Amino acid sequence: MHFSYLLIAALFSPINALPASSSYSAPAPVSRAPGLLGLTDGLGKVVDGLLDRIHDETEELTTAVLALLQQLDEVVPTATPTSIEDVATILKGIAGAEPTTFIESVVSLAKNGLGPGSFEGVFKQYSAGSNSENNVNEREPSKKLYPSAGDNDAPYSIDEETLRAAIYIPDTFTYGEKPPVILVPGTATKGGLCYEANLAKLLTKEDYADPLWLNIPGWLLESAPWNSEFVAYAINYIADITSQNVSVIALSQGNLDTQWALTYWPSTRNVVSDYIAVSPDYHGSILLDFLCPKLTEGIVGCAPAVIQQKYNAKFIEHFRSVGGASAWVPTTTVYTGTDDVVQPQHGTNASALLGDDRDVGVLNVELQLHCPLLSPALVGTHESLLWGQPLQVLIKDALTHDGPASIERISDWNDACSMLAAEGLGVADVVGTTAAVPVAFAAMFLYDKKVLYEPALPAYAA
Ligand SMILES: *[C@@H]1O[C@H](CO)[C@@H](O)[C@H](O)[C@H]1NC(C)=O
Ligand SMILES: *[C@@H]1O[C@H](CO)[C@@H](O)[C@H](O)[C@H]1NC(C)=O
Repeated sequence: MHFSYLLIAALFSPINALPASSSYSAPAPVSRAPGLLGLTDGLGKVVDGLLDRIHDETEELTTAVLALLQQLDEVVPTATPTSIEDVATILKGIAGAEPTTFIESVVSLAKNGLGPGSFEGVFKQYSAGSNSENNVNEREPSKKLYPSAGDNDAPYSIDEETLRAAIYIPDTFTYGEKPPVILVPGTATKGGLCYEANLAKLLTKEDYADPLWLNIPGWLLESAPWNSEFVAYAINYIADITSQNVSVIALSQGNLDTQWALTYWPSTRNVVSDYIAVSPDYHGSILLDFLCPKLTEGIVGCAPAVIQQKYNAKFIEHFRSVGGASAWVPTTTVYTGTDDVVQPQHGTNASALLGDDRDVGVLNVELQLHCPLLSPALVGTHESLLWGQPLQVLIKDALTHDGPASIERISDWNDACSMLAAEGLGVADVVGTTAAVPVAFAAMFLYDKKVLYEPALPAYAA
């Protein structure tokens, strides 16, 4: 059975009936910009590989796939959300009391009508405009940033034109009149996809923040050190052309990449005032095994960045051994104990927990531990923090004071915790934020340069 087609159909056409039989044919290929996911030529290959894999995989995977298929067979959209309360109820139902797995969340989201309306064109949609990785940023820096902005910086492996083109600067950007904030997306997303319906929309209206974002080629599925080069270059480029310190807000893997950039491009540390980490995974996650199953010889398996984010990955081990588990600049981390992608995410074992060995100032906010009146709808999933009010008030506090945020300083903290969604966001924004999950899943699934083993670390880190 072409389970992948069923999966894709279920994810992207949740309102329509699933294809009735295996005679269902593939969606028409969409055109794509060079350098993007190999959707056109990659799809057939990926599907064939998956079909082989279903026969060859470990029993564990077979069981998981069968369970998934069964769930997908039962997918009937049960709701078309019309209010934030509806969305909140759906997410609350998905999250339940226990952490759920990513895959279960994806199925549930599809079932509840929270996903892009159609598969065709999804990748096209997310490779143009505000998701483009081919941006023309004409302003030349006042000093040399490439090949190196500082004597101790690691060498770039990516050319400057590509690094600069990944920076998306919206029309609203003031080039230094307001403090710049670089938004770094998470695995299998683009900056626009990740942030336009939440932080970009909200921060643009504020005088303490001037958001722009990164659209990293390969959707952060390439190796994490490679992705980090874009973060390092963007920090120095934006600080230079605005003559301002920058702040960085990142989601999920975007945080590993930001910390790696701060670690290996020390010039960046001098120009970052604040770093706010949303659902970071500084210790990887134990929940990624389904996405990176053990593979038999000759069957190509998993995106480099996904393998590197496994709990015991060599990359994670190295990252932590060179100081990545402790802050380099004033840092505020915000995360949910019931994260459906990153676990463990609670207490002293939380993957998001950042130390302060260098005494630069860190605030770790596991929401459940700091919010007595936490709205349960807010914290069920990896990305739901983005549309919640607690993150917005923490960002405001961090950006308007020296050092990280301080909950004691935030007078409306308890109100923020109990709100369903951030002030200024509507139901379309909440759905738009949540829709990034099935898109991310599809991007991961369709990524056509999968590897069997974790890639080697770059020479500068070896
Ligand atoms: C810029 O950031 C650095 C590093 O965090 C900090 O030491 C410095 O005070 C900041 N400068 C300004 C003008 O905020
Ligand atoms: C942290 O993880 C270790 C090893 O898995 C476990 O033994 C310990 O109970 C955990 N601690 C907390 C506070 O969850």
